[in-house]
This record gives sequence, C-alpha cells and structure tokens, in this order.
Amino acid sequence: MSSPSTADSKIVLITGASSGIGEATARRLAADGHHVVLGARRVDRLEALAGEIRTAGGRADHGELDVTSLDSVRAFAETAHERHGRIDVLVNNAGVMPLSTIDALRVDEWNQMIDVNLRGTLYGIAAVLPHMRARGAGHIVNVASTSAHRVDPTAAVYCATKYAVRALSEGLRQESRDIRVTVVSPGFTRSELTDHGGDPETQAVARAAMEQFAIPASAVADAIGYAIGRPGDVDVNELVVRPTAQG
Ligand SMILES: NC(=O)c1ccc[n+]([C@@H]2O[C@H](COP(=O)([O-])OP(=O)(O)OC[C@H]3O[C@@H](n4cnc5c(N)ncnc54)[C@H](OP(=O)(O)O)[C@@H]3O)[C@@H](O)[C@H]2O)c1
Repeated sequence: MSSPSTADSKIVLITGASSGIGEATARRLAADGHHVVLGARRVDRLEALAGEIRTAGGRADHGELDVTSLDSVRAFAETAHERHGRIDVLVNNAGVMPLSTIDALRVDEWNQMIDVNLRGTLYGIAAVLPHMRARGAGHIVNVASTSAHRVDPTAAVYCATKYAVRALSEGLRQESRDIRVTVVSPGFTRSELTDHGGDPETQAVARAAMEQFAIPASAVADAIGYAIGRPGDVDVNELVVRPTAQG
C-alpha cells in the first residue's frame, strides 16, 4: 500500500461497500492511503474486506448500514465521526436495479429503487452535510449511471432514480461553496447488480450484456479515486465511465 502524507489521507465513508463498485472503491481508496469506512447490510462481507485491506497495510473499519433507514444512515455516519473526528468524503454508492417494464407493475421494486437509489442518497447527504458545513470542507460523491443520461425500456424507474440523483447533485453543488460534489456515472460494469430481483427475462438480458462487454468495477473506482485526489479547490463534477463497446 502507498502511504501518502497525513494531510492527503481522508476519512471516506462508502455505502454499498460489500460488492461490486463499492468494494472496488474501498480497495482503491485504501491503496491510495485513505481510511475507508465500509457500510452495507452484509456485514460478514464488510468484515472480510476490511480485514483484507488491513492485512495489506491499509486502514478500514466497517458498520452495518441500511440506506433506506435514516436512523441507520445517521448512526453509521455518527459512529464514523466520533471515531475519526471528521468525515472528509461520502461515496453514496449503494444501489439496486430490478429491471422490468412499467406494465409489469412491480410496484414494490419501484419503491425499493426509490428507497435505495434516491432516498438512500439523500439520507447519506443529510447524515454528513452538517459535519461538512461545520468544518467548511467535504466531498460528496454520488454514483449515478449512464441511465442518468438516457432512458431505455425496462429501466424507466431505475433511470428516474438516477436522473434524480444527478439533479439533486447539481442542486447541492450550486448551493455549496465549501463542499465538492461529484457525480460518477458508470456504464455496464461487472458486479452483482443484475443478480437481485426484476423480471427474470429482462435481468437475464442485462446479465448477458454485462458478461459480454462490462468493464471491471476497478475502472469506476479509479474515476472516484481521481475525483477525490484533486486539490480541494478543484471540483470534478461529472464523470461518465463506460465500456468502449457500449452504445
Ligand atoms: N454495475 C453496473 O453496470 C452499474 C452501472 C451504472 C451504475 N451502477 C451503480 O453502481 C452502484 C453500485 O452497484 P454495483 O454495480 O456495484 O452493484 P452490486 O454489486 O449489486 O452492489 C450494490 C451494493 O449496494 C448495497 N445495497 C443495496 N441495498 C442496500 C441497502 N438497503 N442499504 C445499504 N446498502 C445496500 C449492496 O450491499 P448489501 O446487499 O450488502 O446491503 C451492495 O454492496 C449502484 O448505485 C448502481 O446503480 C452500476
């Protein structure tokens, strides 16, 4: 592991760190010398990942987190703040994508996407913003999607949540002079995203596309690491990272 100066080392909270992009981001940022605080529901995975990072010489701790609960998100952030005395960066990454046409009326899954992708992102902001405002510094990285830039059939609700994440990020950016706001929008990326819920046939198509040309999660982690690594007066606002072969 590299060891940057203490001044460059940040306390970084990552939601959805138990797999995919969140896990890769944790590895990348720890390798960059940051202290990562891992959150998700599958605590056994977080424990194993934090252990691996520490064995490799990095710094990591973890906590159970359900981003659909404001209490849970606040408790996660407060524990990190008490332990480390500050929160430099929040990576709002937790997300779900159960795809289906609107006609299928999978209303519970619509609500799940709204709760995790949109409310969860807002809850993350609510939990860290007062600390960042009090210090006059901080960085919020919201993971959106290429689905925040274009709409496709079967992804209407997913796209709606991701467009909303971009919109609220832009609003937060405009309201902030002290806090950096970054939206990272991945295209097809290898992860567990297509493994959960949705219309089985639709999910199978998405999974096949992922297997065919998805980029590794580390490619998105690199983009997040780049944005975090810029000087404090440089705010990288939007990064779109997708496979070269993606249409
Ligand atoms: N993979 C892609 O092609 C792609 C493309 C564009 C955007 N994205 C976005 O990238 C982000 C990460 O997804 P991924 O591709 O890495 O998929 P993934 O491997 O399925 O990871 C999703 C993460 O979100 C967490 N999560 C889900 N519900 C949660 C909840 N209620 N509370 C806390 N954590 C929760 C999961 O952890 P637990 O289940 O352990 O809680 C998991 O760590 C998502 O926002 C996704 O929309 C992915």
